[in-house]
Amino acid sequence: MVRQPITSLSGAFSLRGKNAIVTGGNKGLGLGIAQAFAQQGANVALFARDVKSGDEAVKGLTAINPDGKFKFYKADVSSFDDARAAVKSVVADYGDVDILVNNAGVPSIGNILDMDENLSEWYRCINLDLNGAVHMTYLVGKLMRDRGVGGKIINITSNAGEHASKTTNMTTYCSAKAGLNMFTQGIALELAPFGINVNAIAPGFTESNIGTDPSHPVSEEDKKKGQEMMAKVIPAGRMGKAIEIGALAAYLASEASNQMTGAILTIDGGHSLGI
Ligand SMILES: NC(=O)c1ccc[n+]([C@@H]2O[C@H](COP(=O)([O-])OP(=O)(O)OC[C@H]3O[C@@H](n4cnc5c(N)ncnc54)[C@H](OP(=O)(O)O)[C@@H]3O)[C@@H](O)[C@H]2O)c1
Repeated sequence: MVRQPITSLSGAFSLRGKNAIVTGGNKGLGLGIAQAFAQQGANVALFARDVKSGDEAVKGLTAINPDGKFKFYKADVSSFDDARAAVKSVVADYGDVDILVNNAGVPSIGNILDMDENLSEWYRCINLDLNGAVHMTYLVGKLMRDRGVGGKIINITSNAGEHASKTTNMTTYCSAKAGLNMFTQGIALELAPFGINVNAIAPGFTESNIGTDPSHPVSEEDKKKGQEMMAKVIPAGRMGKAIEIGALAAYLASEASNQMTGAILTIDGGHSLGI
């Protein structure tokens, strides 16, 4: 199936009536993406673990578009069984899925040799940041392929997927995001014949709830180190906002980007220039 080009900008950015799944859509960048989609007319299913912020997010999205359909699904997408059950529920509730955003992710700071002998920190990050996106793409990609009308898949990677960090020990996180970048390119090739576009957004430092998971707290020292570094390293002079990531995701989800697939789009205020 060949995705047809737009012929005018009129309506080209609209997501009216499209059904989207956004993993981690209850907070941070995922919420910014869900808000951008709601503003463009999409219905959004949010996948994450925390029901309270999920319910709040649904209320906020309904206020943006009272005619839209917004629902929260409690799912840990690092578990294939959880992801499969939640996707099944979305199909029952929404019918079809037009857009998938693999956004759920956790940071990981620390040296590999300091990890426990089960390498549990390595697996915690890889199982969500890389494998979570694979689980969801497998499940939703099949639905999109079998439906035969194409689709849009957007992976939220990081500029850390292209550069090892000298200032913060993030080998695990960088590896997960580098893997997600290559997964994006490979699966874009696999799914192109079905009219399914797969692209990635690689944000730099962006305001969110990252690092506030109480079960894996970031130390005050690491937080301070991070803030000092951010002030110095972003040429644009500020951190990004979630809605700015949402704006780019809305473009990638729309017909306007039909000719784009396999792209990894950096949005980091110039942070990764000259590293
Ligand atoms: N903020 C940045 O500076 C930045 C920069 C580059 C890339 N990114 C990427 O952007 C994405 C979003 O990060 P963020 O900054 O918005 O962080 P965040 O505010 O901490 O949000 C993380 C989201 O992922 C969800 N999540 C965590 N574990 C999950 C699991 N096992 N299953 C399902 N959902 C899960 C969280 O919801 P629950 O806790 O309710 O499950 C939350 O919605 C991540 O992939 C991150 O690597 C962020």
